[in-house]
Amino acid sequence: MAKHNIAVLAGDGIGPEVMAEAIRVLDTVANKFNHQFTYTHALAGGAAYDEYQDHLPQATIDICKNNDAILFGSVGGPVHLQHEAKWANCEAKSILALRKAFNFNINLRKMTIFPEIASLSPLKPELLKNGLDIVIFRELLGDVYFGEHTLSEKDGKRYAFDSGAYDEDQVKSIVQYAFNVAKTRGKKIVSVDKANVMAMSKLWRQVANEVAKEHPEIEYSDMLVDNCAMQIIKNPAQFDVIVTSNLFGDILSDELSVLSGSLGMMPSASFSNSGFALYEPAGGSAPDIAGKNIANPIAQILSAAMMLAYSFNLHQEASAINNAVKAAIVAGYRTGDLASGQAGEKIVGTKEFTDQVICNI
Ligand code: IPM
Ligand code: MG
Repeated sequence: MAKHNIAVLAGDGIGPEVMAEAIRVLDTVANKFNHQFTYTHALAGGAAYDEYQDHLPQATIDICKNNDAILFGSVGGPVHLQHEAKWANCEAKSILALRKAFNFNINLRKMTIFPEIASLSPLKPELLKNGLDIVIFRELLGDVYFGEHTLSEKDGKRYAFDSGAYDEDQVKSIVQYAFNVAKTRGKKIVSVDKANVMAMSKLWRQVANEVAKEHPEIEYSDMLVDNCAMQIIKNPAQFDVIVTSNLFGDILSDELSVLSGSLGMMPSASFSNSGFALYEPAGGSAPDIAGKNIANPIAQILSAAMMLAYSFNLHQEASAINNAVKAAIVAGYRTGDLASGQAGEKIVGTKEFTDQVICNI
């Protein structure tokens, strides 16, 4: 029997709803495999602002420190309310601050195509006939994300300035991590940069090539980000592991996530070099559909499965969740975002979809 303590930061929008479902799934696993999972809830984002006038209160950081892993939901408010203090820069002040506070420099996002819902993909069916399984590693603490950002006036004109930076250790750390994972997969890795323009990318490419030399068994190539964005929709099957910098990873991971048919499908894990980790769906807080029992809980449930595998070494239990989600899809259960109009589809709510996942564990 394993005992694990989990900090649960459900956040805003659909976060609390899909989190409740992920916890029901975890409880089912705990029961079946005889483990004990303890949850300590803490506030983040707009939810924390309501209580503390702070998007990431110290109380939340302390709870994260005292647990074995963080299960995160989503943060952020409606577009038309971004001027309110509760929602202004909510994401930067909560999830970005949390990444920084715990040195989560490595982000892994996984895209899988389920053949049963491949028709929802914006790509042509012939590009997907052998399925797709792509992992993207995104550096999470460098680049323009943690540089200087000013919006001011210069020479009588409005003026904007952003800066970004990488040092070689930051690049080496994530590229090495990605190579280690590539060894356990298709032994193929593409490093993405904009080395024809940016200094950060020139350094990235140098360091990535140095790391690649230490792994001759892995097929390695460099790709420019504009080309990569195009190759992902032209021939996604060429990719197995992608490794890239913070901003390019943000953009390319959204592009990859929607190839599966819905933004609600992609789980992610963020690690520090010490191994401590945070797990969160790659999609957003979707305030427009919050509270209606229609959100897709899959990315949150698969993020919980990643936590079991990577933080708790419970691989059989993680597979039980992954297989149960797959079985619910194979049996025709779909949340609204996954409806394609095919015969045999059963459109269900967030809770009812999870009930099916739970039945299959
Ligand atoms: C993500 C999100 C965040 C990011 C936002 C909410 C700041 O888009 O996790 O991909 O840009 O990193
Ligand atoms: Mg993003």
